[in-house]
Amino acid sequence: MSESNKPLIYMDNAATSWPKPPGVAEAMARCLEESSANPGRGSHTMAVRASRILFEGRKRLARLFRVANPNDIAFTLNATHALNMAIQGLLQPGDHVIATSLEHNSIRRPLEALRRTRGIEVTYVPTDDRGRLDLDRVEAAVQSRTRLLAATHSSNLLGSILPVQELGALARGRGIRFLVDASQSAGVLPIDVEFMNIDLLAFPGHKGLMGPQGTGGLYVSPELELEPLLYGGTGSRSESPEQPTVRPDRYEAGTPNTVGIAGLTAGVEFVLGETVEKIQAREKTMTDKLMEGLLGLPGIKVLGPELGEDRTAIVSFVIEGIDPSETAFILDQQFGIAVRSGFHCTPLGHESAGTTETGAVRASPGYFTAESEIVSFIDAVGEIVKAYRS
Ligand code: ALA
Repeated sequence: MSESNKPLIYMDNAATSWPKPPGVAEAMARCLEESSANPGRGSHTMAVRASRILFEGRKRLARLFRVANPNDIAFTLNATHALNMAIQGLLQPGDHVIATSLEHNSIRRPLEALRRTRGIEVTYVPTDDRGRLDLDRVEAAVQSRTRLLAATHSSNLLGSILPVQELGALARGRGIRFLVDASQSAGVLPIDVEFMNIDLLAFPGHKGLMGPQGTGGLYVSPELELEPLLYGGTGSRSESPEQPTVRPDRYEAGTPNTVGIAGLTAGVEFVLGETVEKIQAREKTMTDKLMEGLLGLPGIKVLGPELGEDRTAIVSFVIEGIDPSETAFILDQQFGIAVRSGFHCTPLGHESAGTTETGAVRASPGYFTAESEIVSFIDAVGEIVKAYRS
């Protein structure tokens, strides 16, 4: 139930998916009660059970992303943590990086920090206002010192999908490492690290993988060695002052979030059972209905790809004459509808979309969103347009 005493309509899945599938909460409770000893740090029965939870989680993630060796996946707190591990662990003074104007601050800020502290250089290739990326412009940005191409798989503002396979081929052809931010795509778009030539894949656990917050991971290609972001205890090679080179220990210092990973594993199990293709198709149907409804209202500009074009389940919009934060407030307080509004941690994305001054309302349905909720959402926005538009 929401503050408005109406049943909650949750349209903020791009930030954190909700509700979680059956089994996630149970897996976490069971882990806490039966297996939450320290994984990798003891040989007693409960510690071994905890280690097994991590192993099972890695195995399922490897199946989902077509990773040959599950130990090439390190668990992290979220995608931001994983992106920092990749960016800070790879780049050296003098390196050049290509990214896009759709990057979230979780890529942009670490890059900008390294520009200051390590003297790296960054080129942000702009997309058009619908979030489409011209591969020729990426090719033209390549320099002899380009070490990394970093790209979001799908924009968290526009929902547009970048051509990851083509970008991977381009990077591979030019000897550049390829980092993909799967924050909006893991669990909802097919990802195959081999086929797509992805060297580094950062993903959150709490969005499309349907796990709890505080979980995520980084796939690191076996061809690549990163300097760890964190050094510390791993339970392995304890006699050595050096961080072990063995994976995943090298990238997992400190006690992990075993309870969260138990939940994440249940979420990934659900995704594998339903299949990414089915999830993608259902989310696309809901998103198209949502867009169609909004486009039928006066004074609304929907950002990102045109109706019918590929996009993830993200529909950002601006209502002429109404501040996005006010729209979100009214949706919450009067209609019990949860959306994100304002600026979405992607200043260059807002520049591309032409919403630097206004920000936007972002509605993001999920796999469990009912068609009736989409109808209620459109009706609510219709009422706001009628009542408040000057
Ligand atoms: N990165 C998340 C979002 O776009 C939190 O909302």
